[in-house]
Amino acid sequence: DLKIAIIGAGSSYTPELIDGLIARSSQLPITEVRLVDIDEGWHKAEIILSLTRRMFEHAGLPVKVILTQDRKEALTDVDFVCSQFRVGCLDARIRDERISLKHGMLGQETNGLGGFAKAQRSIPATLDICRDIEKYSPDAWLLNFTNPSGIVTEAVLRHTKVKVVGLCNVPVLMQKGIAQVLNAEEKDVFVQVAGLNHFIFARQVNYQGKDQMDFVLEEFLDDNQAFNPKNIPSLKWPRKLLANRHQIPCPYLRYYFSADDTYQKSVHEAETEGTRGEVVKALEEKLFEIYSNPSLYVKPKELEGRGGQYYSDAACDLMSAIYNDKRTLMHVNTRNNGTIAGLPDDCSVEVTSVITKSGPMPLNVAPFEPDTLAMLQTMKTFERFTIDAAVNGDYQSALRALTLNPLVKTGKVLEAALDETIRENIKYMPQF
Ligand code: NAD
Ligand code: G6P
Ligand code: MN
Ligand code: MN
Repeated sequence: DLKIAIIGAGSSYTPELIDGLIARSSQLPITEVRLVDIDEGWHKAEIILSLTRRMFEHAGLPVKVILTQDRKEALTDVDFVCSQFRVGCLDARIRDERISLKHGMLGQETNGLGGFAKAQRSIPATLDICRDIEKYSPDAWLLNFTNPSGIVTEAVLRHTKVKVVGLCNVPVLMQKGIAQVLNAEEKDVFVQVAGLNHFIFARQVNYQGKDQMDFVLEEFLDDNQAFNPKNIPSLKWPRKLLANRHQIPCPYLRYYFSADDTYQKSVHEAETEGTRGEVVKALEEKLFEIYSNPSLYVKPKELEGRGGQYYSDAACDLMSAIYNDKRTLMHVNTRNNGTIAGLPDDCSVEVTSVITKSGPMPLNVAPFEPDTLAMLQTMKTFERFTIDAAVNGDYQSALRALTLNPLVKTGKVLEAALDETIRENIKYMPQF
C-alpha cells in the first residue's frame, strides 16, 4: 500500500495530480492521500479536498483522503511527498513581478530577481518541512515542484538527509514536441536533455537509429510555439545565434538569448492584460468556481490555461518508476556527480536519468561548448549564492548572486530593488 502527502494542496494544479494517480492506479496501489495546506490557502484546499474525494469515488478507488495543517499527522509513514506550494500565494508572485518592472527589469516567476525572491521564500519553508520528513518518514521520497525547482532541490540535497528529486514540465513538453516534429510516437524517440532547471538544452535526439538533432533544431527555430508553456511569450528565436549548434534550447532560454525582446514584451503585457501572476490570479478564481461544482468529478479542460501542463505526468510517472523499479528514462533534477563536466559534484542538474528504486541514475552528458558551459557555470554560481542567502540570511550573498544574473541590474538599482524585495516579503523571509 502506498501513502502520499501533497504539500500545498490548495494549488489549482492538484486535480491534475489526482487525475494522474487515477490513470495509474494499476501501477500505484494508493490507499491514502494526505492533503496539507496552511491558513492562507485553507479555503482553496477545502474545495480541493471535496473534489479529490469525488474524483476517487467516481473512479471507483477506495482511497482515504484527509486535509490537515498538522505535518506530523500528514507526514507519518508516507512513501511519497509531493511539494507544490507557493509561500505567500499569487500575491507574492505579483509583488515580485511588479517590483522588478518598477526597477526596469524583467518581471518573471522563476527568472531574474523574481526567481531569487521566490527562492528566498521557498527554501526556508522547504527545509522546515524536510526536518519533519526526516523525523516522521525518513525513507520517503520528496518529489519537488516548488519553484524555483532546481534551486530548491539543491538546497534539500545539500542541507538535509531527505531523498529528493526535482521536477519540471518543461522537459516533458520538449520530449512531446520533438516527437511531434518527427511525426513519431513519444516512446520511440530518445531525447537527452541537460542543464539547470529552466536552463536546459536537448543534447541528443535519436529516432529509428538515426541522429535527428539537426532536422529537429531547424524545425524548432522556425516555430515560435514549439514546446512553449503558456506562460512564456512565443517570440522568434535568434536563428543566427542558435542554428547548427547541435543543441535545442528550452523555451525559458528566450529570456537570456533575446533579453531585450522578452523584457519589452513583458512590459507591454503588464501594461495591457496584466502580469502573468495577475492573469493567473483571474484564471485561478475561475478554476475554483468550477472545482466547487458538486457534480464535477474529473479534471476540467480550463486547467490547460496554466503553464504547468503535464506536470502530473512527470510526478506520477516518477512515483511509479521508483515504486516499481522500472529503470525507465526521465528528465529530473538530481545531484550532478560529474554528469555535467565543469559543474560542482554536489549541485543539482536537470538531466535525463534512469529511474530506479534507489533514485535517478543520470546519463553522462557530452561536454558543452565553451560559451554554453560559461552560461551554465554563471547561472549555477548565481543559484549557489542564492541558496547561501536563503540559508544564512546573508545580504552580501544576495548581492553577489544577483550581480551575476544577466537579467538583473547592478549597483544602486539592484540595492534599491533588493531592499524593497526584502521589506515587502519580510514575513516570508525570516532569514533576513
Ligand atoms: P498556489 O499559489 O496555488 O499555492 C499552492 C498552495 O500552497 C496555496 O494553497 C498555499 O496556501 C500553499 N502554501 C503556501 N505556503 C505553504 C506552506 N508553508 N506549507 C504548505 N502549504 C503552503 O500555487 P500554484 O500556482 O498552484 O503553484 C504551486 C507551486 O508549484 C509554485 O511554487 C509553482 O511555482 C510550482 N509549479 C512548478 C512547476 C514546475 O514545473 N516545477 C509547474 C507548476 C507549478
Ligand atoms: C511552466 C514551468 C513552471 C511554472 C509554470 C508557470 O510550465 O515549468 O515551473 O511554474 O510554467 O505557469 P503559470 O500558469 O503559473 O504562469
Ligand atoms: Mn506503505
Ligand atoms: Mn518548471
